[in-house]
Amino acid sequence: MQSIASVTAKVIVLTGASSGIGEATARHLARQGHYLYIGARRLDRLTALQDELRAEGGHVEAVQLDVTRPEDLQAIVSQAHAAHGRIDVLVNNAGVMPLSPLAALKIDEWNRTLDVNVRGVLHGIAAVLPIMQAQGQGHIVNIASVGAHQVWPSSAVYCASKFAVRAISDGLRQETDAIRVTLVSPGVVESELADHITDETTRAAMRDFRRIALPPQAVAQAIAYAIAQPDDVDVSELIVRPTASPY
Ligand SMILES: NC(=O)c1ccc[n+]([C@@H]2O[C@H](COP(=O)([O-])OP(=O)(O)OC[C@H]3O[C@@H](n4cnc5c(N)ncnc54)[C@H](OP(=O)(O)O)[C@@H]3O)[C@@H](O)[C@H]2O)c1
Repeated sequence: MQSIASVTAKVIVLTGASSGIGEATARHLARQGHYLYIGARRLDRLTALQDELRAEGGHVEAVQLDVTRPEDLQAIVSQAHAAHGRIDVLVNNAGVMPLSPLAALKIDEWNRTLDVNVRGVLHGIAAVLPIMQAQGQGHIVNIASVGAHQVWPSSAVYCASKFAVRAISDGLRQETDAIRVTLVSPGVVESELADHITDETTRAAMRDFRRIALPPQAVAQAIAYAIAQPDDVDVSELIVRPTASPY
């Protein structure tokens, strides 16, 4: 007799799984019995997570990738498709947040933010869309932010990238009647995201802004909720904030 987990198991490609929300999501979905293909640049972290989850009986493949390279997304999707003959879900989670005021002119950081947060999401969509269209089903989950709904000083480029992810998600949702599209917008979550801010004033301001934070598991559960709905139910948007935070 098949277990419940194997009956409902989906083939899921997840980017940004080497820390924070992606790592928690990989744990959560693997423990639900799904077939996971987890990607990021830090292969050592991915492999440690893969080994930990396999030791529990999870089906996890670690794949090194950089979302700014479309061929890397094609490769992880091809690997999953070759093994299972289908791709059920893509979670576009990889992201960066090197916040600064525009006047600091951190042009390289602006470009990196757009390359990872916007182009990275598009590269993921490009890799799965033809397969999902041919299947007549599929689910693309894009991780945005409360910064997809509101702008703060020092966050203009990051918020622009997340507003773009929101626009892309809603456009994609309207263009297809077979593929589910979900935008998950977290408030502040404990992770490494703010560790890479190079602007000292913004780093200090972020310490207060990020004082109240959700555990990443809370966002993992929101993603899993959207995935678990039937094919004809599209949870198109979820905003998940810490109860005690105004942000
Ligand atoms: N934490 C929050 O407060 C918060 C709030 C709202 C939205 N979010 C969003 O949640 C998502 C996950 O962030 P997090 O909070 O979990 O931060 P995190 O701990 O810094 O994780 C970011 C992940 O993205 C990966 N990544 C970065 N650049 C990449 C690239 N070029 N190619 C492939 N992977 C890349 C990182 O892996 P490697 O470095 O190994 O590549 C890491 O796994 C992001 O989209 C973020 O904008 C977070």
